[in-house]
Amino acid sequence: MSVEAAPRLAPPALPVRTERLMLRTVQPGDREAIGRYCGDDEVTRYLPFPSLDDEALTARMSRLVAATAPSVPDEFLALAVEHEGTLVGDLMLRFTDRHGPTDPPAIAELGWVFSPEHGGRGLATEAARALVDLAFAHYPLHRLMARLDPRNVASARLCERIGMQLEGHTREDYAERDGTWSDTAVYGLLRREWTPAR
Ligand SMILES: CC(C)(COP(=O)(O)OP(=O)(O)OC[C@H]1O[C@@H](n2cnc3c(N)ncnc32)[C@H](O)[C@@H]1OP(=O)(O)O)[C@@H](O)C(=O)NCCC(=O)NCCS
Repeated sequence: MSVEAAPRLAPPALPVRTERLMLRTVQPGDREAIGRYCGDDEVTRYLPFPSLDDEALTARMSRLVAATAPSVPDEFLALAVEHEGTLVGDLMLRFTDRHGPTDPPAIAELGWVFSPEHGGRGLATEAARALVDLAFAHYPLHRLMARLDPRNVASARLCERIGMQLEGHTREDYAERDGTWSDTAVYGLLRREWTPAR
């Protein structure tokens, strides 16, 4: 029996503007700014990739630039975050699951990487809130989640500021680059718990 392909989902209307920020698709010209913070060992400490060299940055940029219209699990939306004309970070919304092969995605994972030059002012929080609003307003999602190393306190605080709940802590399930295992904290937000920021 053949399974019909699920219809592709329309991309969200961009840019999204908040009080201090503009969220837009990633452009090839963002390479220098993204390369600067993704080449910083402190920034990538808890990311699934090591600090990017030139070749790895080229590969990441092509993935980010192409990530404009996710539709099925494993596809993602990448957004560049601008503050007063400067790129300060990037966001990801990655679909992970759905009920059946022709259903739209129902679960998505959030991710964020911000330049430490612009940290500590709530910009990442403001951007992540806008991404949550976009995710629930534009896609028929049931649940958003974030997975992080529990030692990544800045990211855990961000999850809490945007209304996500700590749902679980799994032990030694994440393979680190140095051959060790680390724990994972799972944060979640259900559609019925979502309060739009604006
Ligand atoms: C996770 C990350 C985005 C958080 O950055 P951040 O600077 O702490 O987050 P914000 O920009 O939202 O700033 C929040 C801080 O500014 C303060 N702040 C100041 N003005 C604020 C405002 N208007 N609104 C909210 N917070 C404000 C907050 O109190 C908070 O400080 P605190 O944590 O000491 O209480 C950043 O650390 C990062 O990019 N890390 C590396 C990548 C990474 O690990 N990503 C996650 C992988 S799972």
